[in-house]
Amino acid sequence: MKILCVVGARPNFMKVAPILAALERHNEALKSNPNAIGGEAIEHVLVHTGQHYDELMSGAFFSDLKLPAPDVHLGIGSGSHATQTAEIMSKFEIVLKKETPDVVVVVGDVNSTVACALTTAKISFDSRGSRPLVAHVEAGLRSFDRSMPEEINRIVTDQLSDLLFVTEKSGIDNLRIEGVSPTKIHFVGNTMIDSLLHFSDKADGSAILEKLRLRAKTRDGHAGAIHQYALLTLHRPSNVDDPDTLRNILAGLENLASCYPVIFPVHPRTRLRIREFGLKFPDGVAKGSGAGFILIEPLGYLDFVCLTKHSSLVVTDSGGIQEETTCLGVPCVTVRKNTERPITVDCGTNVIAGTESHRIDEAVQQQFGRKYADCRPLYWDGQAARRIVDVLARWHIADSRLPKALVVQPTT
Ligand code: UD1
Repeated sequence: MKILCVVGARPNFMKVAPILAALERHNEALKSNPNAIGGEAIEHVLVHTGQHYDELMSGAFFSDLKLPAPDVHLGIGSGSHATQTAEIMSKFEIVLKKETPDVVVVVGDVNSTVACALTTAKISFDSRGSRPLVAHVEAGLRSFDRSMPEEINRIVTDQLSDLLFVTEKSGIDNLRIEGVSPTKIHFVGNTMIDSLLHFSDKADGSAILEKLRLRAKTRDGHAGAIHQYALLTLHRPSNVDDPDTLRNILAGLENLASCYPVIFPVHPRTRLRIREFGLKFPDGVAKGSGAGFILIEPLGYLDFVCLTKHSSLVVTDSGGIQEETTCLGVPCVTVRKNTERPITVDCGTNVIAGTESHRIDEAVQQQFGRKYADCRPLYWDGQAARRIVDVLARWHIADSRLPKALVVQPTT
């Protein structure tokens, strides 16, 4: 069997890394027990669309996560949604025809996800219409807000997918309501959390706390106490492309920043807007307990996990960070009107604050420094990728070894 995995943008890398590792482990295990159930080596190919291309948005993650270099790089880069999606599709089609995989694995909800799912669903390798299966990792999440480009990507990708790997129970409910056959849905957990748990100890070796002077040194040169600080990320077009919304969000964080350092790794889109709107930040001094906004370049994976683990509060508009803070028991304030990840709110770690300043300020006061007991959701246990590979291996045995000829049944 041959599996092709797609990555494109920053949040994809940590979701795919554990799947590649699980595929390797599957192949290794077969060497000692060739007659095992699902006993066929799985060849895998990694395709990077190039949606994110800066070293800080892509390359740094490959080295932190020990990802192998991509076998194929499409070199797409930035563009409007239509241009980016169309360019990925036309280049990915060429790769599909050359590689003829049995399964294409797409993750998350970025433009690369939907573009590669659509290309796979429509390709035809022969006169019978054979094509690879589409497997979607992180299926079923819904914000019910179609103004989000990611919501469109999620809905379309799920409708096209043959195997839907779900991270939380709401995903199963949403897919069932949309008429997806239960036989296609597999509740496996969260591969991004696999990465988080796998790299959590290693992230403690990061020097980022010292670099930002958030950890003091004792007189004898050892690591001392960590100062209290907050961590901020903003990149959603709906939050950063409109000057009033961006100003409101920052105004809602002013009280926080007057008391504590607010570490703000700035996404390229956000940096551009800050410049365009002429926003000025008080000179955040990264010196221990020195308060203020501290703007820094985007961080690599290990540095970011380290900062998240030790922060007193995370303020974000990212989806993945809501999940990582839940797993780590770190309080989170989400500056959006909704979330596609309701389990993070059910667990208590995440408060959806919207984008009005007074509500953000209230949520920050409610959440800063709170301690949450272990509240890890079901199957967020570091084994999601193994479950996915088990499904793929078993499915191949069960379904006649002719996956490319599989006819996808219409759903009822
Ligand atoms: C994309 C995803 C979003 C995800 C986010 C994580 C879509 C629709 N959006 O949003 O779901 O949460 O990634 O970061 O797929 N740029 C650089 N260097 C890079 C990449 C981008 O400078 O390596 C700049 C470009 O000016 C580009 C802008 O950032 O126009 C936005 O990049 P883009 O990939 O279009 O979307 P993101 O906002 O990153």
